[in-house]
Amino acid sequence: MNAPAEFKLPETIAGYKTFTLGEFTLARDEYFVTLTWPAKGQRQSHTMSADAFLRAMMRDVAWGFFYGLVNFDAVFGTRNLYGKVELFAGRYNEAIHSAGLSYVETFETPKAMAKFKEILSDWVNAGFDPFAAPSETGNTAFGEKNGNNMAAIDRFRVATKRMPGLDGDSPLRNDSNGYAINRAFADVGQEEPEIKAEPGFEKELHAFNLFRYLSRSDVTWNPSVTSVCRSSLFCPTTEEYILPIIHGNDRVEWFVQLSDEITWEVADRETGRPRARLTMKAGDVAAMPADIRHQGFSKKRSMLLVWENATPDLPKRYERGELKPYPVEF
Ligand code: PHB
Ligand code: FE
Repeated sequence: MNAPAEFKLPETIAGYKTFTLGEFTLARDEYFVTLTWPAKGQRQSHTMSADAFLRAMMRDVAWGFFYGLVNFDAVFGTRNLYGKVELFAGRYNEAIHSAGLSYVETFETPKAMAKFKEILSDWVNAGFDPFAAPSETGNTAFGEKNGNNMAAIDRFRVATKRMPGLDGDSPLRNDSNGYAINRAFADVGQEEPEIKAEPGFEKELHAFNLFRYLSRSDVTWNPSVTSVCRSSLFCPTTEEYILPIIHGNDRVEWFVQLSDEITWEVADRETGRPRARLTMKAGDVAAMPADIRHQGFSKKRSMLLVWENATPDLPKRYERGELKPYPVEF
């Protein structure tokens, strides 16, 4: 939709506030989020389903804009410049960009983050948990404004320093600390390994049952750092329904499918042209190249290990062509 340059959305719709960030306007109604931006002397606009938009925005907030591109869909998203962040509309959509209708604006990260948090606190209704699977949170995303869900959007983020369960590190999950076994993982063994350390090494030697730990995850599509070895981060996660973002990598990521099955759609990062579709079954390993975007689909809740390389200068090394976008040559 095109509209005149002076076109303005109302200040509130169905009880929801309309927000501006730079030249972007963001509004929500009972079902949709509408974004507008300037291009070719007019306001351009784009509409997304409110639940999909809020699930994507929640990931951007929880992950500090993540690595590289976070596409909310084929049009809107953010690009992490590590310290600053770009908001874009149509920039990575070949048709919109080549028609000269895309728009990009750069913000200091804290400014964009504060606005995104304000939007979530106003637009997420009571009962809607953007991290939950649709069958666990129902239709609560929709309708007129109805309270909020600060507990879900401010949820404590697991920040493991070395490994869960070590002295002074993040806790393991149990019924007693609020982590019941998810309905999809009722068959997952719950026994913990036996640890016999030499005297003096009790705080150094550690092991835990990762399947048990993941069977008790209360969120979906939320990789959390679960073991740290310098820049090598193991980020396992449990997946059900659709990855709420289309991730545009700025480095190689490895996936190890730990249980069940996920289908990935892989496309060119810049244009969105399709490149591959792969179905990963339990035990499969894949490397996602550094020049693609990808989105996963998991029909039954599954366990995925995302292996991230947090070496700080990686995006620049790929941009300079020092590193190939894929990690292995066969
Ligand atoms: C990814 O972009 O690689 C990604 C993000 C979230 C997930 C899994 C994979 O839950
Ligand atoms: Fe990714």
